[in-house]
Amino acid sequence: MSQRLNLPVRLRRNRKNHAIRELVRETRLAPGDLIYPLFLHEKEVDEDIASMPGCKRWSVEGLLAEVGEAIKVGVSSFVLFPAIEEGLKTPGGEECHNPEGLVPRAIRAIKAAYPTSVVITDVALDPYNSDGHDGLVRKDERGEIHILNDETVEVLCRQALCHAAAGADIVAPSDMMDGRVAAIRDALDAEEFERVSILSYAAKYASAYYGPFRGALESAPKSGDKKSYQMDPANSREALREAELDIEEGADILMVKPAGPYQDVIRLLRDAVTLPIAAYQVSGEYLMIKAAAADGWVNEEAVMLESLLGIKRAGADMILTYFAKDAAKRLA
Ligand code: PBG
Repeated sequence: MSQRLNLPVRLRRNRKNHAIRELVRETRLAPGDLIYPLFLHEKEVDEDIASMPGCKRWSVEGLLAEVGEAIKVGVSSFVLFPAIEEGLKTPGGEECHNPEGLVPRAIRAIKAAYPTSVVITDVALDPYNSDGHDGLVRKDERGEIHILNDETVEVLCRQALCHAAAGADIVAPSDMMDGRVAAIRDALDAEEFERVSILSYAAKYASAYYGPFRGALESAPKSGDKKSYQMDPANSREALREAELDIEEGADILMVKPAGPYQDVIRLLRDAVTLPIAAYQVSGEYLMIKAAAADGWVNEEAVMLESLLGIKRAGADMILTYFAKDAAKRLA
């Protein structure tokens, strides 16, 4: 005879069937939470990306089709990442504010075809400058490289203006230069782009998880690393300072990046500030799930959804993820 425990509190009662589990569910993931990062290039064909299985470098035409597919499953927000031809890369990154450049053309095409979509652009110099850094680089007499802050901010403002003029809804500075949010806000407002929002990569860490992305854009730094501008993975109080400054400077949304390994930082910001919080499930996080699933070691769909739910539960209001379209299909 088994002994009945004297247990007035039994948490399993709230888990006893599907409908009850739905009632007590604390976090829900919806297609509308997701932002879909898309790579594009000048070519007229869509190319598979070796470092990121399941992702492509789209032609502008292919991009439009993919945006249409995503909208059908409930994802209406997109971030654009251009692969710029080697010949257009310069030390000054001037191509980043060419009004006829790849990104402004893509923005115009998307907004013309899908006026209700939200087009977000990455503001940083790494796809455009020949050094592969997010900012302008100066080499000193000893051959050591320095990433120039204030000079870079000036170029970022021109880039943001170029994207706004093409119709971007949100500009997202990912460069981690000091003072760029205030400068970009000023520049936008001076040109009457006060409706354009700033999604600030407030806490962007110097992370090894960006590897596959740099492969996708061939944008890895030619020398040195990004540790003098991106944050030290060991720090979280500093993330709060970054967030506070970006709020003062006029950011509309704050981002934490990467997402999964930094869920404590997402929670910290969620509890400390009132702005919406975005989290970026970056290329390495995506690839690890893809690779494990390809070997049959985990169930791709289940792990994909659980990884996104965990990020949302940590406090993210929105999630940038390469899984956006696939996840939305499963959620629909
Ligand atoms: C560059 C940028 C990076 C990512 C987004 N914008 C790479 C980097 O900072 O080196 C990474 C995204 C990813 O890994 O998915 N400004």
